[in-house]
Amino acid sequence: IPFALRRFDIYRKVPKDLTQPTYTGAIISVCCCLFILFLFLSELTGFITTEVVNELYVDDPDKDSGGKIDVSLNISLPNLHCDLVGLDIQDEMGRHEVGHIDNSMKVPLNSGAGCRFEGQFSINKVPGNFHVSTHSASAQPNPDMTHVIHKLSFGDTLQVQNVHGAFNALGGADRLTSNPLASHDYILKIVPTVYEDKSGKQRYSYQYTVANKEYVAYSHTGRIIPAIWFRYDLSPITVKYTERRQPLYRFITTV
Ligand SMILES: *[C@@H]1O[C@H](CO)[C@@H](O)[C@H](O)[C@H]1NC(C)=O
Repeated sequence: IPFALRRFDIYRKVPKDLTQPTYTGAIISVCCCLFILFLFLSELTGFITTEVVNELYVDDPDKDSGGKIDVSLNISLPNLHCDLVGLDIQDEMGRHEVGHIDNSMKVPLNSGAGCRFEGQFSINKVPGNFHVSTHSASAQPNPDMTHVIHKLSFGDTLQVQNVHGAFNALGGADRLTSNPLASHDYILKIVPTVYEDKSGKQRYSYQYTVANKEYVAYSHTGRIIPAIWFRYDLSPITVKYTERRQPLYRFITTV
């Protein structure tokens, strides 16, 4: 085996007939080849994989939207009948919509005792709120606002692996063990997010952070009318993720 190993020496001495492979030379040669291979493979993986670069800027990225943001909400209230569940939307532009029903669906749960509300609606790009409550119902029995949020997302859905964002930060929020009569406030800070893929196609989405509180609110008549409030505000800063791939000439020169 040591004799066979010596054949790998690429640094043999001249003149040829006087050279002799050495063990040290062979070991250095093998190490060099392995190192070159390692460098080549690192460059190759760097060339093949796309990196995602992010940047921040102050602008409204999605100007064609007409100042609207699409919202997708999916929430279950296991102890509130579907007839009582409603969605109201209010904002600083004077919008006040009670019992929003377009593009929304109520699915009875627990053989009619509960309800799942699935809604698609749009909000203006101004601070405001939307809330799930019994405000639009004609009768006001004792409502039970315990709930689970499956999804709350804004804008286009982004299915990208290399971005760890908060596109559905409230997804999975479980308030089943809360006081049934408590109101819930979710205070959302919405951050516009643009994702540009390799072909230059841009998708507009939104991430958000949440703070929440729970409290029992009495109305002026002394009754308790709880609600689940989503109060939102928009960040002026946009996050932009751009997919980049190393150009071929750079790969060749580094190799
Ligand atoms: C809402 O969430 C429930 C529970 O996870 C799921 O079964 C249902 O398909 C969702 N609805 C939509 C429209 O995504």
